[in-house]
Amino acid sequence: MALVTTTEMFKKAYNGGYAVGAFNVNNMEIVQAITEACREEKAPVILQVSKGARAYANHTYLVKLVEAAVLECPEIPIALHLDHGDSFETCKSCIDGGFTSVMIDASSKPFAENIEITRKVVEYAHGHGVVVEAELGALAGVEDEVSVEADHAHYTRPEEVEEFVAKTGCDSLAIAIGTSHGAYKFKPGTNPQLRFDILEEIVKKLPNFPIVLHGSSSVPQEYVDMVNAYGGRMPGAIGVPEEQLRHAAQLAVCKINIDSDLRLAMTGTIRKFFAEHPDKFDPREYLKPARANIKELVRHKLIHVLGCAGKA
Ligand code: G3H
Ligand code: 13P
Ligand code: ZN
Repeated sequence: MALVTTTEMFKKAYNGGYAVGAFNVNNMEIVQAITEACREEKAPVILQVSKGARAYANHTYLVKLVEAAVLECPEIPIALHLDHGDSFETCKSCIDGGFTSVMIDASSKPFAENIEITRKVVEYAHGHGVVVEAELGALAGVEDEVSVEADHAHYTRPEEVEEFVAKTGCDSLAIAIGTSHGAYKFKPGTNPQLRFDILEEIVKKLPNFPIVLHGSSSVPQEYVDMVNAYGGRMPGAIGVPEEQLRHAAQLAVCKINIDSDLRLAMTGTIRKFFAEHPDKFDPREYLKPARANIKELVRHKLIHVLGCAGKA
């Protein structure tokens, strides 16, 4: 199967009460870990690339790694998506360069400007068979080196979504209901709670429309503990409870973004390896267990969080 758009994936996910995982990729080991887990669990998958990933690994390398995964995993649908596209030019370069889906994130701009830039991206993307994710609302946390302080974060306003989708023609909408980017999503001692009431209001205004959740890592304590046990310092790292993500996946949420969990699994595993084998210096020796642990983490997400195992 060649690279696909997310159109069919989202239709099936919406009707089937599950979500497709959108995992950020930055190197070969991460691409392999994700797609091997999805292949074994027969799950559709979205591999997403941020501006930072393109700066780190280079557009062509990432596209070719994903194309290699498509050849290795012909049984599952794979979409290649631009995460947090910051301008028409970045989106255009990905549309022209082989991506099947792009996000234009103009959520920090005023409403009218967000509509304007999103509409322009949609026009170009649809003309080239590519789908578009847009965003309304502002998540806290760090993305592509831009830090949004908690005070500047705000939930998506349900009264804006209908007009936004009608005027832009976007294919899916990322919303802010309490998730945030990075490994420090909630204060220790507080009760992490997504705003399902806001999601429900949005669904009433946009029936049958695919909703996207960013900042949806659950920050497994197993890996936070591993990082901290082997020389790291990540006190108070807390993510979104898995049951809440599972609940969101059963509703209109069709795409759930996960990046920080992969980073934690990789970093924890490599820290442990070095602590236990101070004499080793062959990157293959420490990247191998890191890749294996990311694969098992992704498998867990597919089965227990996203509910998309067996849906390819
Ligand atoms: O939302 C942000 C993603 O985790 C990508 O992060 O910009 O550091 O590649 P990045
Ligand atoms: P996390 O930082 O929670 O993994 O979110 C990733 C994300 O939203 C990528 O766009
Ligand atoms: Zn994001």
